[in-house]
Amino acid sequence: MDANNKRIALVTGATGGLGTAMCKELYHDGYHVLGNYRNKAKAEEWQAKLKAEGFEIEVVEGDVCDFDSVGRMIAEIETRVGTVDILVNNAGITRDGRLSKMSQSDWHEVINTNLNSVFNCTRHVIEGMIERKFGRIINISSVNGQRGQFGQTNYSAAKAGMHGFTKTLAMEVAKYGITVNTISPGYIATDMVMAVPEKVRDQIVAQIPLGRLGGTHEVAHLVSFLASDETSFITGANYSINGGQHVY
Ligand code: CAA
Repeated sequence: MDANNKRIALVTGATGGLGTAMCKELYHDGYHVLGNYRNKAKAEEWQAKLKAEGFEIEVVEGDVCDFDSVGRMIAEIETRVGTVDILVNNAGITRDGRLSKMSQSDWHEVINTNLNSVFNCTRHVIEGMIERKFGRIINISSVNGQRGQFGQTNYSAAKAGMHGFTKTLAMEVAKYGITVNTISPGYIATDMVMAVPEKVRDQIVAQIPLGRLGGTHEVAHLVSFLASDETSFITGANYSINGGQHVY
């Protein structure tokens, strides 16, 4: 909680398409929102743009791949604002390519940014949540962690790993009023998806029953839902939001 008794929400990878929409939605909901970044210049520009639109989002520097860097970031948040009540593990990257061509660094970068980051960030906030008997951990996975995607062994492995993390941590912290859930977006209109070659992307969109990419606000709305006090009986769950691309 901050000094005004507002719950504090931290979104990692805040300056990306999904992160931006999540910050805006959580701000609308009345949370004290902090956006994590790694690139200072980009973050300051991002913050100024949001401020001009009426969103007061604080920014905090931290490399989610680095356990100690995250530790410093969380300590700074605690001194500056208060303790984190809602953590959205959203930071993620792609380094697509067939495994037969994949470099070791493309493997490690994706596992570090998309999966080890979830441990690094959650580990630093979980004890405080246990003490205060409240918390919301929301992990942003992917449809490609539920099924395979040609060219994404690294990404699929990391995103699938999140599901195991969510389910197990949910069991461990349920009695402390902390919920842990996963959201698995399909193809959403972000820079990450727009970087997929157009021809390949068109083929993918053709496989989506809704016939379009998802909107970032649609995923943000689900984050808002899971962050709320009213969803305290939902934990260990995975929410698909993919336009019907993968049903099971
Ligand atoms: N299924 C089967 N074969 C495929 C294929 C597919 N989906 N895609 C490519 N191939 C085959 C081609 O037909 C070609 O075969 P031949 O060599 O026999 O002709 C071969 O693979 C070409 O592969 P290359 O290794 O030469 O690679 P490329 O330069 O064509 O690129 C790729 C391959 C990087 C995987 C590219 O196809 C690509 O970017 N695909 C999209 C991957 C994707 O969906 N990424 C999601 C990013 S967004 C995201 O991740 C957000 C989220 O959560 C959803």
